[in-house]
Amino acid sequence: MDFQITLLPGDGIGPEVIEKAVQILQIIEKFTDNRFHFSKELIGGCSIDANGTALTEEVLNACRQSDAVLLGAVGGPKWDNPDSNIRPEQGLLALRKGLKVYANLRPVKVHPALMAASPLKEEKLSGVDMLVVRELTGGLYFGEPKGRSIINGQEHAVDTLIYSEEEIRRIVKMSFELARNRRKKVTSVDKANVLESSRLWRKVAMEVSRDFPDVILEHMLVDTASMRLVTSPSSFDVIVTENMFGDILTDEASVLTGSMGMLPSASLGNGKPGLYEPIHGSAPDIAGKGIANPIGMILSAALMLRFSLQMEKEALMIEQAVNRTIADGCRTADMGGSLSTEMMTEEIIRRIHE
Ligand code: NAI
Ligand code: MG
Repeated sequence: MDFQITLLPGDGIGPEVIEKAVQILQIIEKFTDNRFHFSKELIGGCSIDANGTALTEEVLNACRQSDAVLLGAVGGPKWDNPDSNIRPEQGLLALRKGLKVYANLRPVKVHPALMAASPLKEEKLSGVDMLVVRELTGGLYFGEPKGRSIINGQEHAVDTLIYSEEEIRRIVKMSFELARNRRKKVTSVDKANVLESSRLWRKVAMEVSRDFPDVILEHMLVDTASMRLVTSPSSFDVIVTENMFGDILTDEASVLTGSMGMLPSASLGNGKPGLYEPIHGSAPDIAGKGIANPIGMILSAALMLRFSLQMEKEALMIEQAVNRTIADGCRTADMGGSLSTEMMTEEIIRRIHE
């Protein structure tokens, strides 16, 4: 099969890590009859500089026509003016919305060899293997009204947390389906003690759960969940939650693994294409130095093989090579070592060939 893959390197370390993921994919390609065709487009700050907007309609259309989209990261101090109404993150939001990828999957697994690097004690970390499913195209980040106004001489700002039944149902359903192939437990995280949107969320989650009698559903308030993520992280299997809660909880969960630089994500809708990106940002503090950890980006490429290209065997080849590389003690700076982006990638490639 021929696959069209759109690359959106973005800003900061984005281009540095995406280049490595492509290198790995080109090696994987040689083991198969499939052919990857890559095309590179602009998003984020670099797109603002070139086109005055963080994502052009042409780029969005190119993404829509591809089988999968690989994204690096966007943003940086150059575009950080709080009063500007053109910001790099708008490119990300427009892309997610434009591709209708409503489910953001973030697997969090702690590698035994990295437990010492985690801020949590080892006994808390053993058995941590969760999948956070974050709603991505609704909720507080998109709800209307949204904006600023002057009321009685004072500046006011409003954001709106709104969900339809259907938006909740499709993501909760996907979470149950994913849980079926795991440890069969879904934790639905909300703030139902104060938010009306969360009470609807809870009601729909209960309805969906009736079709999945083999999967346990538990409800948890988001403040409790944030505590339990550090006190008993291994108790979670699949977590499903609304956009902003998921944004915050996944950053918290990511530190369990020792570094932000290691975690991948997949954003899926009902059809193609899927969107794949590491969970870290553009890391302006280390951009251009060649020391970024490429693992989050490389594992995102593995998720792309699994979910968008139906190449499970090849996804596992990458994941196992990364696991062996870590087990053998290879570390970039963020993991407490001294390997460059290039050297870490070479180590992973060597293990793919083994
Ligand atoms: P960040 O994730 O870029 O960096 C946080 C810390 O982790 C930094 O010290 C950075 O050096 C380190 N880090 C992140 N990824 C790493 C990697 N692969 N290897 C080694 N170290 C890594 O988050 P921060 O600093 O809050 O944001 C920086 C910029 O990125 C901002 O402009 C922000 O808006 C943007 N951002 C973009 C995201 C995206 O494109 N999806 C997500 C989060 C932030
Ligand atoms: Mg975030």
